[in-house]
Parts: sequence; structure tokens; C-alpha cells
Amino acid sequence: MTTHIEAEDELVLKRQPFVPSLAVFHCRWCLPETDLVRSFLPPEVAECSTFITLNCTARMEAEFAIKAFSEGFDGVLVLGCEIGECHFRTGNHQAVKRLALLKKMMSLCGVYPARLGFFWISPYDEDAIRKNVGSMVHGISSVGPFKYGKTWIRPRPR
Ligand code: FES
Repeated sequence: MTTHIEAEDELVLKRQPFVPSLAVFHCRWCLPETDLVRSFLPPEVAECSTFITLNCTARMEAEFAIKAFSEGFDGVLVLGCEIGECHFRTGNHQAVKRLALLKKMMSLCGVYPARLGFFWISPYDEDAIRKNVGSMVHGISSVGPFKYGKTWIRPRPR
């Protein structure tokens, strides 16, 4: 039986190099400037990505990521304050739990889990941010486009 992940891997062989599009959610307390966040991505990726500012990553609902995937984005990136530095004290702790669970669910659904990236960063360590974001983009680039898009989330039959 072929799993979705294996099916995605087969696509890698047939596909041309492509530029992934990301939905980037970033906390406004550690990264208030969208232009700065944009600069962490390769220019061609930033060009076809969208950027959403959150008041805290605690506001990052799993539904936002699912909606982004269903709209056709190839990946979802969440950037929040370092653990222990959240302006609302435990907002990023809640986000970690929620996003880790979503990642597991993605894996069970046959979606390459590295399509969802979340990093808790210091705004002063731009090299680390670039490294983490770059490895996520590289991972998505190697598996290719998110082919399920609108078919991934189907309305419940009535
Ligand atoms: Fe930045 Fe909570 S305020 S993650």
C-alpha cells in the first residue's frame, strides 16, 4: 500500500525545481517588522509568500495552518518569542503544544510534517533564524508542491 508520503516522494522524481509558497505567521513582540521577516526567506520564496502578524503565537490556531494549506500554500511557518520571553508569559508554551499536535496529525494524514515549521527565536540572533528558516524551505523544496490543496479538507457529508 502506497502512503501519501511515499506518493509525495514519487513526485520528487518527476517534478521540476519549484519555489515553495509559505504562509508566515510571526509574533509582533519579537518580530514587529514584516520586512525583516521577509528578509529571512530567500527572495523568490518571499515573493510568493504571505505574512501575517500575530499578537502572540498563542493566537496561532491549528485552523489557520489548515486553512493556509487548503488555500494552496506549500508550507506554514510560525515565528515566535523565545521560550521564557513571551510577552504574555506562557503564550508560546500553548502554541508549542498545539502545533506539535498538528504536526503529528499531519503525519498521520500523510502530509509531510516538515511543511509546518515553528521556531521560537531571539530577534537578535538573525543567523539562527536564517538557518532554521532556510532548512525548512530546503525541506519543502525537496518534497515539492503541496498537491492536495483544496482536496485535502473535504466538507463533511450531510
Ligand atoms: Fe511573542 Fe507570545 S508574545 S510568542
